[in-house]
Order: sequence, then C-alpha cells, then structure tokens
Amino acid sequence: MTGIFSAIWPFSIEAGLNRAYGRALSRHGATAQGVFWNSPKSQRARFSALLGLVASHAASRAGADAAPSVADIGCGYGAMLSFMQDRPQIGSWSYLGFDINPAMIAAARQRLPHAAARFKVGKLPPSQVDYALFSGTFNLCLIDDPVRWQRYILESLAACWPLCRHGMALNLLCQREARLTANIYYADQQGMMAALRRFGHVQAVPTRGVKQDVTFLVSR
Ligand SMILES: C[S@@+](CC[C@H](N)C(=O)[O-])C[C@H]1O[C@@H](n2cnc3c(N)ncnc32)[C@H](O)[C@@H]1O
Repeated sequence: MTGIFSAIWPFSIEAGLNRAYGRALSRHGATAQGVFWNSPKSQRARFSALLGLVASHAASRAGADAAPSVADIGCGYGAMLSFMQDRPQIGSWSYLGFDINPAMIAAARQRLPHAAARFKVGKLPPSQVDYALFSGTFNLCLIDDPVRWQRYILESLAACWPLCRHGMALNLLCQREARLTANIYYADQQGMMAALRRFGHVQAVPTRGVKQDVTFLVSR
C-alpha cells in the first residue's frame, strides 16, 4: 500500500472502532461486556496471562529488582489497573493506560479518580516504558481482510516497539488459519509468531481458561 491511502487508512479503521466500542460502552457501561468480552472471568484470565508473562520476564532479567513500568494500550475503562491494584505482587508497578476512544478514557477516569492522570487518549506512551501490553486491542476487526488486519496489527506494534525497553505482550484469538468471523480476528499462531520475530524473541502460550486465545510476549 502506498501514498495517501496508507497514511489515512489507520484513521478510517479507528473511526469505525471508536463507533463500535462507543456503542458497547453506552449499552453495557464500564463492564466486561462494554468492551466486548464474553465475561469478567475471561477478561481477568487474559490480564493474568499477560501480566504473568511480563512478571516472569522482568524477574529473569539480570539485576532486575525494580517494579516494571507498563503501558496498557487499548486500556478500555481501566479494568487492568483495578486487577493490578487488587494484587500486592503487581500493585506497585508503574501503570499508564491509553485508548483511542475518548469515552473509554472518560470512563476509566471516572471509575478510578485517584488514578485519573494515568489514563490518556492515544495509542502510544509519550516516553519509554519497560513493557507495552495489549489485551484484546486487536480482536475486533471491521475490515473484511485478515491479511490487511495483520498488517495493521504489526504496524501498530512497530510504532510502539521503540518505546518499549524490554518487551511487548499481546493476546489474540487463534485458529489454524488467519480468518475473520463475525468481525472477530483469529490469527494463525505460527504465522503471527514468525511475523513477531522481526521485533525480538517470541514466546507464545495458550491463555489459561480462554479457549483459542494465545498470549504472546516479544522481548529484546
Ligand atoms: C476488547 S477492548 C479491551 C479493553 C481492555 N484492554 C480490557 O481488557 O478491559 C479493546 C480496546 O482497545 C481499544 N483500541 C482498539 N484499537 C486500538 C489502538 N490501535 N490503540 C489503542 N487502543 C485501541 C478500543 O477502543 C477498546 O477500548
């Protein structure tokens, strides 16, 4: 893709996503359903898998003793920060949340007024963090081409990678072949792992308790 189209296509994709997530939030409020999760249980299982991989990687680094800093990209109404604050082992990590949807950021600030300043409209942290996390950020796909959607995901990760000191973690639903079903993107795990290797070392683990979901960690 070249020229002006490549420059504007993320904007048109994101305008559609903003409308769809905005409708879900107005209908269901700041709940798992309001960000298209099937249940709070599957939402928490994803947080647990992402943060668990990051915690193990952070602990394995030579001389690592400080709590890592994380940017939650596609933070929705801030459920991951609540999840972290309920767990003493990760509650002291430094957290920033970003979302392209202003209504999501307003909901996060309203739910967590003590942490309102940590939530910003956007897609990228303003400066380096240790890890960027993406939970469900790329599941809803409103274009009908899985190849283009994978390209969009990789372009989004490429923009974030220079801002990650140690790594990025994301989850995706996976099937044998990349496909779209009812506007949900399913990646092909092996193809996605191969594509992610352009950034660094890749680990992929099935997300415990969520059928077909895989959690990926890309590290330097
Ligand atoms: C499935 S929801 C998950 C929300 C949150 N991570 C959670 O698990 O509760 C996906 C969120 O990602 C946001 N989003 C989608 N694409 C994004 C992008 N490229 N950058 C930042 N946010 C994005 C959406 O607005 C939505 O709030």
